[in-house]
Amino acid sequence: MQNSFQIENPNPSFLETSRRDFWWIEPFFTAIGLLAFVIYSTWAAFQNEHYQWESYLSPFYAPLLEYDWWPFSPAFLILWAPAGFRLTCYYYRKAYYRSLFLTPSACAVGGRPQNYRGERFLLLFQNLHRYFLYIALVFCVILSYDAYISFTFKDGLGIGVGTVIMTLNAVFLTAFTFGCNSLRHLVGGNVDCYSCVNFGHQRYQAWKFVNIFNMNHMMWAWISLFWVGFTDLYIRLVSMGIITDYRIL
Ligand code: FES
Repeated sequence: MQNSFQIENPNPSFLETSRRDFWWIEPFFTAIGLLAFVIYSTWAAFQNEHYQWESYLSPFYAPLLEYDWWPFSPAFLILWAPAGFRLTCYYYRKAYYRSLFLTPSACAVGGRPQNYRGERFLLLFQNLHRYFLYIALVFCVILSYDAYISFTFKDGLGIGVGTVIMTLNAVFLTAFTFGCNSLRHLVGGNVDCYSCVNFGHQRYQAWKFVNIFNMNHMMWAWISLFWVGFTDLYIRLVSMGIITDYRIL
């Protein structure tokens, strides 16, 4: 449906709008947040050190890989999977198309001139989202296991600040993954009548469960993005001796 601005001006020029509100705030801060994460995670992946302390392991380097044949940081063997999952996520597409590609930046705001020539390059790549979801589900298990291991210390079981941070990281990533639109379709989609298909009741319950997370998918996307970077930073600083891990129990 066209709004009055589009009806009066069907071909607005770049960033032209009659909106009087602060429409640019959301794409502006979205761009800052996304770029900050990309810069930090790339830097952290190149470091190839200080990603482990006692039983704590940075999520950027999980699972722990130690191969002689790979001369670069092991993070590069790992990060393509979560990066691909987020890059092809339906919410993140909206976020970076609006904030970074400006196509357009917001409703009723003129976008960057387009020359659409069908589904190519990035658009084609985004069709892989369902497959990245399968890998992301495996990562939920891996990070949950790492969180479980973080309860162990040299002198036995315990809870440090890092334990809490790593556990929350696994929880937030799982909440983000469980709200995935592809997962929602996988468990409950393609069905016109739940009571007419095998396991219809179970599928309906699974679909309702996924909806709980799906309703706040954007929120989980940002919380999990921030927290995974924060988890790496915390373990890095502890490993470098800049801060001390406080033992709660
Ligand atoms: S739609 Fe966002 S993770 Fe799948």
